[in-house]
Amino acid sequence: MDKNFYITTPIYYPSGKPHMGHAYSSIVADIFARFKRLENYNVLFLTGTDEHGQKIEKEAKKNNKDPKQFCDEISETFRSLTKILNLSNDDFIRTTEKRHHNSVIEIWNRLIKSGDIYLDKYSGWYSVSDEAFYDEDEIEDNNGKKISKSSGSAVEWVEEESYFFKLSAWSKKLLEFYKKNPNFILPESRKNEVVKFVEKGLKDLSISRTSFTWGIPVPKDKNHVIYVWLDALTNYISALNFPNTEDVKYKNFWPADVHIIGKDILRFHAVFWPAFLLAANLPLPKRIFGHGWILSDDKKMSKSLGNILDPLEIINKYGIDQLRYYLVKEVSLGNDGSISLENLKNCINNDLANNYGNLCQRVFSFIKKNCDNKIPSNPKLNDTDQKFLDNLKKSVPKLISLMNNQELNEYIKTVVKFSFDANKYFNDSEPWIVKKKNPERMNAILFTIVEQIKNISILLNPIIPNATNKVLTMINIVGKNISIDKIKDHNILKSNKELGNLEILFTKIEHDN
Ligand code: ME8
Ligand code: MG
Repeated sequence: MDKNFYITTPIYYPSGKPHMGHAYSSIVADIFARFKRLENYNVLFLTGTDEHGQKIEKEAKKNNKDPKQFCDEISETFRSLTKILNLSNDDFIRTTEKRHHNSVIEIWNRLIKSGDIYLDKYSGWYSVSDEAFYDEDEIEDNNGKKISKSSGSAVEWVEEESYFFKLSAWSKKLLEFYKKNPNFILPESRKNEVVKFVEKGLKDLSISRTSFTWGIPVPKDKNHVIYVWLDALTNYISALNFPNTEDVKYKNFWPADVHIIGKDILRFHAVFWPAFLLAANLPLPKRIFGHGWILSDDKKMSKSLGNILDPLEIINKYGIDQLRYYLVKEVSLGNDGSISLENLKNCINNDLANNYGNLCQRVFSFIKKNCDNKIPSNPKLNDTDQKFLDNLKKSVPKLISLMNNQELNEYIKTVVKFSFDANKYFNDSEPWIVKKKNPERMNAILFTIVEQIKNISILLNPIIPNATNKVLTMINIVGKNISIDKIKDHNILKSNKELGNLEILFTKIEHDN
């Protein structure tokens, strides 16, 4: 079986402060990456910054900086965001790096060689903020200003000499590919959107610009820089040391298992990128997953509405596990979802503090008080205990399949239910009453509940790594033992070692906080 797994986030424009959308894309990808590691896969998780193009050049000018210096600074902010979000990325690529430059040049040369590039003149609408060309029917008038219908960004009329990619020639091949690979674009609604777009027939794509210079120059024609999307998409293979297709990284990890992206950049990933790869005679990624849009109180976050939720502020105040959990629990992956501080607090209180946190706290303080802070050994589990544990164990294949299909919400719902049931099991078993009359029974209950806490903690580990690592470390489950395999393994708890101390995992939030 192929035990390698390659997952990417979009590479971010380092044009301003990281926002909640960046945090969301990254956290979602991180959760899948961590889950595959729990399945003992050799994982490569890539993120980085997308630094060329007119948008960045303009932004740098506005800040009176040379574009490279500007990118160096803001790219660092994004790199430090990976730490703040507790991302487990294995690499961080910048499109201003040499390794990326080489890879883009090779792609360009391959497209020249295959006859897919020609020189002509482009005239049409362009949005610098989206770095995208739009057709007449994709724009509208907004108080005398032309904007893109889909993104609302301002567009400007552009007329310049340009190299074109023969995208039109690939429509049929793309449609065949979508048909043969029904899970290539997920969720289904996004696939339908893409198929409809391609069925209308594709126009050739302008892939170079002459009106600014911040980009990778076109080989043999220094008046042109390569269109930033052709440049940016290539990052996914630059990080694998392409053009060296004999490199182990490339061999192990290409084609990628999944590109996680937001719905606004679907066309680039699900149409342009596969067409470039087909033309360059390279394999296509296995999946493009387009998540939805994060809204604040049901509206788009914007400065003028004053409803921007800053991920850094929230993390400072409430914690990173809390934000990670809330975002993926509350927003249905694939759909737009509204977030609010009010809901964040409720979610922290109900799911984290009162449910999982409370379960761990009460069980371990009971063990401390009554069992010298040791997990009881040689327990004799009865049918109820066994059934309780089996219930979770039996669901593991289903949980794995949910994660492999990016059905993250269903996964979380299932695991949270186990945590809820574990609290109930502990209540109903009443170890505090049993302990006098039947200490052996008490031991069995405690062993069972710790076993279940272990299993729930492993399953929650990709989502709330900090808190679950504290719990797992306390019961001496560390390193390789934090794995899906170990859910079935009773024996790893049977040491009679003294447990550590469990600090408070999740503090309840008062409502004026
Ligand atoms: O698009 N809700 O970079 P970017 C959810 N450089 N996701 C959001 C969001 C929101 N409110 N706002 C933004 C780029 N995003 C390119 C990518 S990849 C080869 C190049 C998501 O910094 C958005 O959907 O503008 C995208 O996935 C990501 O943030 C990066 O946005
Ligand atoms: Mg964007």
